[in-house]
Amino acid sequence: MAEEKKNRDGFGSKIGIIAAAAGSAIGLGNIYRFPCELGNNGGAAFLLVYLAVVLFLGLPVMLSELVIGRRTQSNPVGAFKKLAPKSAWPVVGYLGVLCGFIILAFYSTVAGWTLEYIVKSVGNSFSGKDLSVIEQDFVDFHNTGWRNVMWQVVFIFLTGFVVFKGVQNGIERYSKILMPLLLVILVILGIRSVTLPGAKEGVAFLFRPDFSKITGKVLISALGQGFFSLSLGMGALITYGSYIKKNDNLTTTALSVTLSDTLIAILAGVVIFPAAFSFGVKPTAGMGLVFNTIPMIFNQMVGGYWFCIIFFVLLAIAALTSTISLLEVVVAYLSEELRLKRQTATVLACLLALLVGCFASLSLKEGTPFVLGGRTVFDAMDFVSSNIMLPLGGLLIVIFVGWKLGKSKFFDEISNEGKLKAPVKSLVFFIIRYLAPIAIAIIFYEGLFA
Ligand code: PFF
Repeated sequence: MAEEKKNRDGFGSKIGIIAAAAGSAIGLGNIYRFPCELGNNGGAAFLLVYLAVVLFLGLPVMLSELVIGRRTQSNPVGAFKKLAPKSAWPVVGYLGVLCGFIILAFYSTVAGWTLEYIVKSVGNSFSGKDLSVIEQDFVDFHNTGWRNVMWQVVFIFLTGFVVFKGVQNGIERYSKILMPLLLVILVILGIRSVTLPGAKEGVAFLFRPDFSKITGKVLISALGQGFFSLSLGMGALITYGSYIKKNDNLTTTALSVTLSDTLIAILAGVVIFPAAFSFGVKPTAGMGLVFNTIPMIFNQMVGGYWFCIIFFVLLAIAALTSTISLLEVVVAYLSEELRLKRQTATVLACLLALLVGCFASLSLKEGTPFVLGGRTVFDAMDFVSSNIMLPLGGLLIVIFVGWKLGKSKFFDEISNEGKLKAPVKSLVFFIIRYLAPIAIAIIFYEGLFA
C-alpha cells in the first residue's frame, strides 16, 4: 500500500486541484450542451430545475465522489474494492469507467469541431456572411464525414499526449491558466448579445419560467445535464479525489468547482439565447445553436475577427481539460487494476475511443446508416451515458456513501480527521443518505418510465 502510494502522482497545490477539477467540469457541457438542452426543454423552467439539481444533488454527489477518491487513493474500481471488498459495489466503478469511455468517444466529436472552427476563424470565413450561409457551412462540414473524423483524431491525440505525461506535469499545468480568460470573453460576448436588436425575447426565454413546461423529460434532462456538466456519476471526481492530499479541504473544493461551472453555464445561456433570438436561430436548433450563433455575434463586433479566434481556442482548451479527465478515468483503471504501463494504457484507451468515436462523428452525415434505436449513434451515446448511466452512477454513489461507508468515515474525511470545522456536515450527510437517493430515483423513474 505504501509502495503503491509512492508511485501515484498527486496534485501539487490547492489551486492545482481546484483548477484541475474545474477544468474537468467546465467544457463543452457548459458552452455547447447546456444551451442545447435548455433550448430543447423549454428555457427558463429548465434553468430553474437545473439550478436545484446542481445545488441539492450535484454538490452532495461531488462531495461523495471526492471522499471516496481521497479515502482510497484509487481509481473508481479499486476504490470500491478497497471500501467494500468481496461485494458487488465495484460494479459502480466499472460502470463509471465504461461511461467515461463512451463520453470520451462522442465528446471528442464536438471537441474536434472546435479545431475546425479555429481554422475557419483564422481564415476569416464567417465575415460578412448571412446566417443561412453559416448554417449551410456547418451542415456541409458534417457531410464530409472525413473532416469530422480527422479533427477527432487530432483532438484525441492531444488528450493522449497530456495524459501520457502524467498527472502532475500534465493536467495541472494545462488547467491552471486559461479558464479565467474564458470567463472574461464570455462576459464580453454576453454584453454584445444582450444589446443586439430583439435580444429581449431571448433574455425572457432564459429567465422567465413557464412552470407548466416542467415534465418528466425536463427533469431527467436537467439531472443528466447537471451530472454531465459537473463531471459526476462516473468516477472522474473519484479519480481526481484520489490525487488530493489529506490536508486539503474537500468541501471548499466542491463548492468552488460547482459555483464556477454553474456560472459559466449561465453565462453561456446569456451569450447564446439573446443573440439566437435576435438572428432568428431557433432555440431548438440543437447542434447548430451554438456553432452558428457564436460566429454571427462576432460578425457584429468590433475586433470580432480576433475575438472569434480567441474564443474557439479557449473553447478547445476547455474541452481538452475535460477530455483529459475522461481519459484519465480509463487510464487510471487500466494501469492500476489491469497493471498495464501508464503509457500503454493511454495509447490503448485512445485507439479504442477513436474506433468507437468515429461512428459518432460519421453518424452526423445526412442519410447516415449509423443509427441506433431511432437516434444517430452520436445522440444514442449521449443519451445513454448522460441520461441513464450518470444518474444511475450518481444514485449508487450516494447510496454507497450514505449507507455503506457511513457517517463517521464521511465526517472523518470532510473534516480532515477533525482538523477542519465542516459546520453543516450533518445536513450534508442527511441529504446524501436520504434526500439525494430518493430525488434521483424519482427523477430517473419519471424521466424514463412514467
Ligand atoms: N463536465 C464536462 C463538460 O461539461 O464539458 C464533461 C465531462 C467531463 C463529463 C468528465 C463527465 C466527466 F467525467
